[in-house]
Amino acid sequence: MKSRCQSSDFQTFIMIGAFIMQTLDAIFTRKTIRSYTDQAVEKEKLETIAQAGNQAAIAGKLEFVVITNRNILDQIQREAKAFFLRSGVEKLVMLASNPNYEVLHNAPAGIAVVISDTTDPHASKMNAENTGCAVQNMLIAATELGLGSCFAESGSVAFTNPAIKDAIGISNDKTVSAIVTLGYTENTTPAVKRNTDNITWCE
Ligand SMILES: Cc1cc2nc3c(=O)[nH]c(=O)nc-3n(C[C@H](O)[C@H](O)[C@H](O)COP(=O)(O)O)c2cc1C
Repeated sequence: MKSRCQSSDFQTFIMIGAFIMQTLDAIFTRKTIRSYTDQAVEKEKLETIAQAGNQAAIAGKLEFVVITNRNILDQIQREAKAFFLRSGVEKLVMLASNPNYEVLHNAPAGIAVVISDTTDPHASKMNAENTGCAVQNMLIAATELGLGSCFAESGSVAFTNPAIKDAIGISNDKTVSAIVTLGYTENTTPAVKRNTDNITWCE
């Protein structure tokens, strides 16, 4: 009995050790990817990533829409570009005027984070915080699954057009707070190691 118990504890330890290593590896090797190959992402991987987002620390409710339909992804890109061009904001107009710029980086897949529209400042803050938690979980999961990813907040502007909401099947009282772009990449540049001067201790 004792030896079984010890062996099982040991196994648990090894499993937890492996899990922690993989999670930390993914956190420290994650980087934003803005260039993807055309290779389709496996459905199981997208499902896992969406579930990782859903499993985040979320105070309230988020929905997730996995988008792999090329026409819809292109529609979002076109709409966001048109929004930037109309905005009159110099930086956005310049970005959108670049023929090589696309808000979703032509990724073969994206996961839209859907929030309930609100004018309440507290609910709005919670929406932003929930989105951040869910997106970060998805970026880390994508890294662990060998995929490139980007927190493409700018894709959300496309959803000011109700037709784009309709295209992904969300009602008019909801909106998209961010899109995580996903795909395989040929980019092998390592993640930039951050300066840690901004971490201080009070002991
Ligand atoms: C809230 C937020 C919004 C972002 N929106 C965009 C975006 O719209 N388009 C984009 O290409 N990158 C976007 N990024 C990615 C950042 O530019 C990127 O994380 C940052 O430059 C650091 O690079 P790294 O992710 O490789 O460490 C966003 C990141 C965050 C946290």
